Amino acid sequence: MAIENLRQFLEELEERGELLRIREPLSVHLEIAEVADRAMKSPGGGKALLVERPVLADGSISEIPVAINLFGSQSRMALALGVEDVEEHARRIAELLQPDIPEGFWAKIQMLPKYAGLAKVPPRQHRGAAPCQEIVLEGDDVDLSRLPILKSWPLDAGPFITLPMVITRDPETGVQNIGMYRMQVTGPRTTFMHWQRHKGGAAHYRRWRERGERMSVAVALGADPATMYTPTAPLPPGIDEYLFSGFLRREPVRTVQAVTSDLRVPAEAEIVLEGYVDPAEPLGMEGPFGDHTGFYTPPDLFPVFHVTAITMRRDPVYPATIVGIPPMEDYYLGGATERIFLPLLRMTMPEIVDYHMPAEGVFHNLVLVSIRKEYPGHAFKVMNGLWGQGLMSLAKVIVVVDHDVGVRNPREAWWFALNNIDPERDIRFTYGPADDLDHAARGPAYGSKMGIDGTRKWPEEGVTRVQPWPEVVRMSEDVKRRIDELWPKLGL
Ligand SMILES: Cc1cc2nc3c(=O)[nH]c(=O)nc-3n(C[C@H](O)[C@H](O)[C@H](O)COP(=O)(O)O)c2cc1C
Repeated sequence: MAIENLRQFLEELEERGELLRIREPLSVHLEIAEVADRAMKSPGGGKALLVERPVLADGSISEIPVAINLFGSQSRMALALGVEDVEEHARRIAELLQPDIPEGFWAKIQMLPKYAGLAKVPPRQHRGAAPCQEIVLEGDDVDLSRLPILKSWPLDAGPFITLPMVITRDPETGVQNIGMYRMQVTGPRTTFMHWQRHKGGAAHYRRWRERGERMSVAVALGADPATMYTPTAPLPPGIDEYLFSGFLRREPVRTVQAVTSDLRVPAEAEIVLEGYVDPAEPLGMEGPFGDHTGFYTPPDLFPVFHVTAITMRRDPVYPATIVGIPPMEDYYLGGATERIFLPLLRMTMPEIVDYHMPAEGVFHNLVLVSIRKEYPGHAFKVMNGLWGQGLMSLAKVIVVVDHDVGVRNPREAWWFALNNIDPERDIRFTYGPADDLDHAARGPAYGSKMGIDGTRKWPEEGVTRVQPWPEVVRMSEDVKRRIDELWPKLGL
């Protein structure tokens, strides 16, 4: 049975000794963040925390506890996605991609339940009263200051909702998108909506703007953990996150219609903010915000979200995260995506053996890739291919190494790559879209990129001075065996 909701996830974590309850009152203003940062920076990602007595801005103690660092370890991430190891999902996807089933993966996901064993994937309508709508607040009863929304870092522009599932609908296709975009609270019933221009929510916003219509938005906080993860995953446009979440859970997500719009929200959510973004309304200055790059992202213009209703459980839990100097909780969320999406990258570039985005590279700054090199210039072909794929197009530096280099060990990857390059010959610069958070880029979301060919060079690549390419220094096997035998006698 898949985990049904956030509270069940917390119970599971507690049973496994992976949850720490904090009864000491802690302020939503920086204090919870400081405790969470220490937990996230401890070995293996620390424990998940349930802060039972968050102190609100007015000094009162909220009855709504804050759950934080829920996904901040490999084992919690695996539990969230219903597996022992997230590689299991990569294998399931690779199986679906077998050539005996001709269509592409996403087409197949959409054509479910045609494929055996996957019939239970599409979302189901919840029957009866939904848990997320036990309480409905509308009009003046809506007051975001009653929620324990965190201010993470001293120079943040205010409190931010940091783990939201932002649900919008494409006005043309009717398909929903769910993305995780932080929301700066600016008043009792307003927030900014920080969907960056390359993201699904922003694309929907542009379509509603073209129509000159207001756009309904619902924001779910807390649900079953797989559904909480999918808004962070770079699904292609038009793929419903609930469907992907059902695939990961091996059970459908139950959804219910929002109270004030036709958007479908997870029935098991803890809290749902319902409202609208009006594309005719001027944008506002969002930020600064202590971001996952480890730097404050400077203020920039983003749309305003008006909250017209809050629905929730009678005893909701408020989920949050903080981002900052890596590694933080988002490294594990992104790490799951890295593993799960490898078979999909291989669909168009089967020569890719593995790839890794180290924590210090904050996802978009650095991608290490190993390939089975088969022809001259192959490394550059792979870089260009990656820069042409979805959110990979935002990668600032791509380093390509040979198949036998373990890219999940960045030290090994850099050691090989740096030994193998003649910088002028093997490094190429190009231009393209840059991550919105790249403060060094020459323009907003536009900048240069660097590709490093760290593979062994071939004569056909014009490298004839050292051929064959030098061998790695390794001891011979027979000597190793002999020393293994002698080892106990050596007193080492
Ligand atoms: C904790 C966390 C916070 C995030 N905050 C934002 C954000 O504020 N704005 C944004 O555009 N993307 C943010 N992202 C990244 C998006 O969620 C991610 O790119 C996702 O693929 C977007 O989904 P979409 O393609 O459906 O838009 C965040 C991710 C995580 C894990």
